[in-house]
Amino acid sequence: MQVRDLRIRCTFPDSELVHGVNFTLRRGGTLGIVGESGSGKTLTCAAVLGILPKQVELSHGTVEIFGSNTASFGKQQWVDLRGNVISAVFQDPGSYLNPSIRLGKQINEVLRVKKGLSRKQAKQETLRLLSAVHLRDPELVYDQYAHELSGGMLQRVVIAAAIAPGPKILIADEATTALDVTVQAEVLDLLTELKEREGLSLVIVSHDLAVVAQICDDVLVMRSGEIVEYGPTDEVLQSPSNEYTKLLISEHQRYGLDRIIESERLQVA
Ligand SMILES: Nc1ncnc2c1ncn2[C@@H]1O[C@H](COP(=O)(O)OP(=O)(O)OP(=O)(O)O)[C@@H](O)[C@H]1O
Ligand SMILES: [Mg+2]
Repeated sequence: MQVRDLRIRCTFPDSELVHGVNFTLRRGGTLGIVGESGSGKTLTCAAVLGILPKQVELSHGTVEIFGSNTASFGKQQWVDLRGNVISAVFQDPGSYLNPSIRLGKQINEVLRVKKGLSRKQAKQETLRLLSAVHLRDPELVYDQYAHELSGGMLQRVVIAAAIAPGPKILIADEATTALDVTVQAEVLDLLTELKEREGLSLVIVSHDLAVVAQICDDVLVMRSGEIVEYGPTDEVLQSPSNEYTKLLISEHQRYGLDRIIESERLQVA
């Protein structure tokens, strides 16, 4: 995926929200997008997915996915692209699931619509996916409702649904933010594993530099709708050129230390 000089505007009131973003997601690569709240991370992803909110539009630049420029896409081409080629998971898994339909049925529906599977094939594939995202008892989860699962388990279900049509690119926008630290690490491990096993390229969006540092090859730092730093993760972490990136790194080091102190305090208690 190649994004060139992406500019995003709000039409009412008229203002530019994202001021020229460039990046490349290599096949099989993992790109991290970090930045404070309101820096334009989600809008950038929404533009790539063709799901910008009302009154927000792509005013300039191009998004190329496997060589196709999405600027020329009609409604049907977007529908074909989403799920089959590029898929996404967001922060609040509960809001993407229907509370009154059993979880297995919801993934079945994705498979029937996107892959044209029969009822029987869809059930088999759903069970395979639920086990691929390491839900311990796929048969049980298949028949459960969203309210019966923890946040971490729900995010696994949503990831299973997102990869069901066999996309090549998965965007995880703050997908682990609401989870506690241990579960967050488990879901990140899952994403890394799926990347290898299902041949995915990943975009990991987070305000937490530590999350991105753990699993991304490249990192893009955004602030106020602009890219302030972009490069291989090691280089950015070791020799950041921008003051804001330096601040993010030092804050992270400080918070990292806080966490260690806190856990020692808990052990003593
Ligand atoms: N629907 C919208 N209409 C108008 N402005 C919007 C809309 N959505 C987002 N914005 C503005 O665009 C800017 C970027 O928002 P965006 O949601 O992309 O930030 P973000 O980096 O994802 O933040 P967060 O870390 O809080 O998720 C913000 O200033 C936000 O207020
Ligand atoms: Mg966001």
